[in-house]
Amino acid sequence: MDQVFIYVTGTAGSGKTYLTKALAEWFDLKKLDHYVVNLDPGADFVPYSADLDVREWFTLEDIMNRYNVGPNGAQIIGADLVSTLVDDIKEEIELSSSEYVIIDTPGQLELFTLRESSRILINALNPERSVMVYLFDPVVSKTPSGFLSILFMASSAIFRLEIPQVLALSKADILTEGELERVVEWSQDPESLYDSLNLERKTLNLELFLMLREAGFFRPLIPVSAVTGYGIEDIYDAIQEIFYGGDDLERILF
Ligand code: GTP
Repeated sequence: MDQVFIYVTGTAGSGKTYLTKALAEWFDLKKLDHYVVNLDPGADFVPYSADLDVREWFTLEDIMNRYNVGPNGAQIIGADLVSTLVDDIKEEIELSSSEYVIIDTPGQLELFTLRESSRILINALNPERSVMVYLFDPVVSKTPSGFLSILFMASSAIFRLEIPQVLALSKADILTEGELERVVEWSQDPESLYDSLNLERKTLNLELFLMLREAGFFRPLIPVSAVTGYGIEDIYDAIQEIFYGGDDLERILF
């Protein structure tokens, strides 16, 4: 049986860790066999029970002491060190034979999307059966230019990692109904975002908008809340659709 690898990604504080927890709880509820991995050596506390935790090998503090670097340098070294653990990680995950593997990625998005070790990990585990859930921070997404900036970052993650992506609006419970509807509408109907951007009168925004629309990067955003459980099932359905819906992967990617 081929395992499905779900990488939970997004900017710092966008809700990756709590979404990982909510997904794991939902899989538990549905009695779907799953395996949870924490890839963040800097996490002080994780609210789920990780089946595999990179902190078993090293923590941010270990790296700071060993290499005599500050927290930012240690984050980069930590991200790179993951590539040296790929064989061990793969072996442990395969031993579990769980159908779904949920992977909580490091705090700062660029540590996962830009460092070569993420690609090494994805390729070693199974690039054909990998998907990233990309979290849109709700506070940033509320404004047209904030939404566009996050879409741009999400698109660059596809460009870099070359695996399909499910777009989710995290912490939906903190938005009003009106805000939620508007942000979701921007993702479903790019012209509505165009109108809102026009009101902001920033030419560069419009250029970026046109580029992302032409390249086909607009996709419906799934609102989720790790607190209420809202939308978690929709994430699962979107993942199922990617792997079992018979769509051409190239079309999903671009
Ligand atoms: P880093 O890895 O530290 O960058 O953060 P992260 O992306 O893993 O975010 P995390 O899950 O730690 O959540 C950040 C903060 O948002 C925490 O204080 C959470 O309690 C809160 N949070 C996460 N998900 C939700 C949610 O669905 N609703 C609400 N209201 N708060 C949430």
